[in-house]
Amino acid sequence: MAKALVTGATNGIGRAIAVALVKAGYAVTGTGRNPDRLAALSALGITPLALSMDRPDEIAAALEGHRFDVLVNNAGMMPPLGHFAESDWEDAARTVAVNLLAPMAVTRAILPDMVARKGGHVFFVGSIAGHTPYANVAAYCATKAGIGAFAQSLRLEVAAAGVRVTEIVAGRVETELYIDILSPEARAAMYANQTGLKPEDVGAMVAAVLALPAHVDVTRFDINPTRIGTPTGTK
Ligand SMILES: NC(=O)c1ccc[n+]([C@@H]2O[C@H](COP(=O)([O-])OP(=O)(O)OC[C@H]3O[C@@H](n4cnc5c(N)ncnc54)[C@H](OP(=O)(O)O)[C@@H]3O)[C@@H](O)[C@H]2O)c1
Repeated sequence: MAKALVTGATNGIGRAIAVALVKAGYAVTGTGRNPDRLAALSALGITPLALSMDRPDEIAAALEGHRFDVLVNNAGMMPPLGHFAESDWEDAARTVAVNLLAPMAVTRAILPDMVARKGGHVFFVGSIAGHTPYANVAAYCATKAGIGAFAQSLRLEVAAAGVRVTEIVAGRVETELYIDILSPEARAAMYANQTGLKPEDVGAMVAAVLALPAHVDVTRFDINPTRIGTPTGTK
């Protein structure tokens, strides 16, 4: 049975991807920090692995000896919204660690074995914020632009070994990403009128990409809510 590792599988997009991969027949290991949500993964057929992305330097040791056929670098966070010049430096540094350095460290721990075995698939959950940045999340946008460039460069290095790399450019998905930084009313407004994807939509796309034959490399896919940007309340 092929093995998959999904980071940030305790919630949102990562959990939906992990569930989709279990349904597709993979033996899935899912990482996260929240102990209750980690424990709940077993009931979904996912093997839980406690792994913090806060200290990328410690990731290599934590993943030593693990071998996977599919890696989904999904775990990520959003710092408080606001002008970068007035923001806490710790928030920016943590965003870079969790969203950029940690997926690089996870990839470095898993990729050499894929290359040696001449097969595997690495996904990176990027964002439209990395391609069409918006205000008040400058550090977040920088990490997502960085992960996109990293994915595309990496792909060129490993393609000859038969390893595929896919950047997922996700638009707005209804998750808890904004739960600490927006009021409940603001969150509700953000997802009103079906202007958010469901995490399961992204999970279905990942499973579809993996179902393609080995000679097909989906290097990037964009996935957005159909109705995003549609004005409401017009006369
Ligand atoms: N939601 C969107 O609209 C959207 C759009 C584009 C891209 N994305 C990207 O999608 C990915 C998943 O986000 P989501 O929307 O599903 O958010 P979410 O519901 O908040 O889930 C985030 C996941 O990442 C894990 N995580 C966060 N910080 C971590 C840390 N320091 N160490 C270890 N694990 C950590 C969480 O695990 P624990 O809570 O257990 O630590 C959780 O499983 C992120 O990379 C995000 O940037 C989201």
